[in-house]
Order: sequence, then C-alpha cells, then structure tokens
Amino acid sequence: MERVHFVGAVGMDHSRSSDGGDRHGTIHPILPADPATFSLGAFGPIRHDFHDHPLMQLPRLSQLARDLMPSSQCRFAARPLTQTSEFLHVSRPPEGGTIDEVLDRIAEPGSWVALYNVQTDPAYGGFLQQVLDSAGSLLGDGGREVLQITGFIFLSAAPAFTPFHIDRENNFWLQIHGRKILTVFDHRDRDVVAAERVEDFIVHGSLEGVRLSDAARERGRVFEVGPGDGVYFPSTTPHMTETPVNADGASNMSISIGVNFYTDQTRRHARVHQCNRVLRGVGLQPREPGVSAWRDAWKAPVGWSIAAARTRWRGYVAPPFAY
Ligand SMILES: [Fe+2]
Repeated sequence: MERVHFVGAVGMDHSRSSDGGDRHGTIHPILPADPATFSLGAFGPIRHDFHDHPLMQLPRLSQLARDLMPSSQCRFAARPLTQTSEFLHVSRPPEGGTIDEVLDRIAEPGSWVALYNVQTDPAYGGFLQQVLDSAGSLLGDGGREVLQITGFIFLSAAPAFTPFHIDRENNFWLQIHGRKILTVFDHRDRDVVAAERVEDFIVHGSLEGVRLSDAARERGRVFEVGPGDGVYFPSTTPHMTETPVNADGASNMSISIGVNFYTDQTRRHARVHQCNRVLRGVGLQPREPGVSAWRDAWKAPVGWSIAAARTRWRGYVAPPFAY
C-alpha cells in the first residue's frame, strides 16, 4: 500500500485574514498538489486554505451543529466504528445527552459526530459555493455543469474511524483541523468493489455488499493529512478514514469537510448504471460508465427510461441523481 506523508507537502501563501477574506482581497483557489497529473476522473491530492475560514472554526461549527440538530442532520455513530464495520449512524446521541454535551466532549478519545447537508444553512451553503468556485479551473472548460452542491463535516477525536464506503457524489475533501489518515481506492478497480455492488448502491442506495477485503486493502493509497491538505475523488471512489493517535499521546481532534457535487457526467453515469443493471440481469457483461462514449450515449437515455418506468409502475424510489 502506497503511503503519502502529505502534511505540508506543497507550500502556499496562507495570507487570509481572520475575517475569512484575504489581505489581497482574493480567495485562494484549491490547487492540485500535482498539477501535471490532476484529473477529475481520478483521485488526487489537493491544497487549500479554507481551514482559516471563520465558518470552519470550532465555535461556529458547534453553532451549526445545534442548528442542524432539529432536522436530524447531526449524525452520531450508532456503535463504535471501525474501518471494516457497517457505516451505521443515528440522529440522536446513542448514549443520551444533548448536542451541547456531545460537543463539550468532542476532544475525548473516540468521539465521532458528522454534520450532514450543511448546505441547508444559508451561510454554509454560501461557503460550499465559495469552495467550488475556487476550484473552478479544475472543473474543466465546458461540459461540467455542476448540478448540486452538498457538504458534510466530520468531527472526531483519536482513535476514531469512518468505515470503508462509496458515495455517489464527486468530492473535494478538505482537512480543516488536526490530523487524519484518508485511504482512497481507484473507483475503476473491480478487485476492490465489484461492478454489481456499485450498481446496487447507485440504483438502490445499498452499501450492503461494499466491504473491504484483506486483499483489497493493499490496493489503497494512504494520505496522511493536516490542515490545508485535501484529496479530490470522483463519484463511487471507495474510501475510509482514521483519526490517528499522536505518537506523543497529545490529543488529536480532527475536523474535515467533504464538499460534494454532481455534474452532468455523474448523472449520465448513473443512468448508464441503471441500464447496465438490466443488461447484467439477462446475462450480459456490460461496459461500465466512462469506458465507451458511444455505448454511454445510447445507454443513458435507456437507463433513464427504465428508472422512470419503474418509478411509475413499481413504486421505485430513486436515491438522489439515480436517474
Ligand atoms: Fe464518504
């Protein structure tokens, strides 16, 4: 397994002032750590300075958590998580108590709280847009219509883990505070997650069959990140995190944010998955999305029609952007 000690790997002029602006009146763009190889079609390390933004400071995030609590967008680990456990989370602290009490103990070993859909807060919705605007040059020229931006913030204290899973969105994943270890796998590697399991997730939202085998574990790339580091990864990229214990025993409280977005291509690929699922059901071995442009061109409308028909006649409830 390749390990990348990424903290401070690329220097930036962090001259943003405490009010979240910049001494020069500009926002620093998100930059690829390796511009020569960066592609939206594959994961890769990035650099940013959004950890200095006032909305990313713990007191303000605590307020956000309190604001999100009534809409069940604060998520708590249903039981202690490991990298190979089921990704189960609930909307109330499993051990009881209020969100304030949980936040008061956020630096205690093993804490894990996630703030989902932070775009529902207008200030954070604006922040997510700001992040994506700053990454604009990485989105390519044309053909990359951004359809929806969502944000997920993770607070944890070592030792803590987020289990192995895939998401349907593309992700600018930014480390804000403390240290974290993010392990990422190629989303095209079928020895890590089988094509049928990816389809299960896209079509039905099920992570049931998405499990990390010992053999696949070695195929991951490990990013050891600190504030200012990040990783971009595209839709259906398998990943997992660890908030590691510091060697000197000092506490390590981590904050990270996933700035997630869909594009026209993400949606087209979801429609191809819908079509492929039917083709696989009749014994064929369909090419996956992104492999063949002309196949994708006819499969996408067919997949849309299949999903629309199932919605109408069989009560299919599609996950977001599943067709
Ligand atoms: Fe994720």
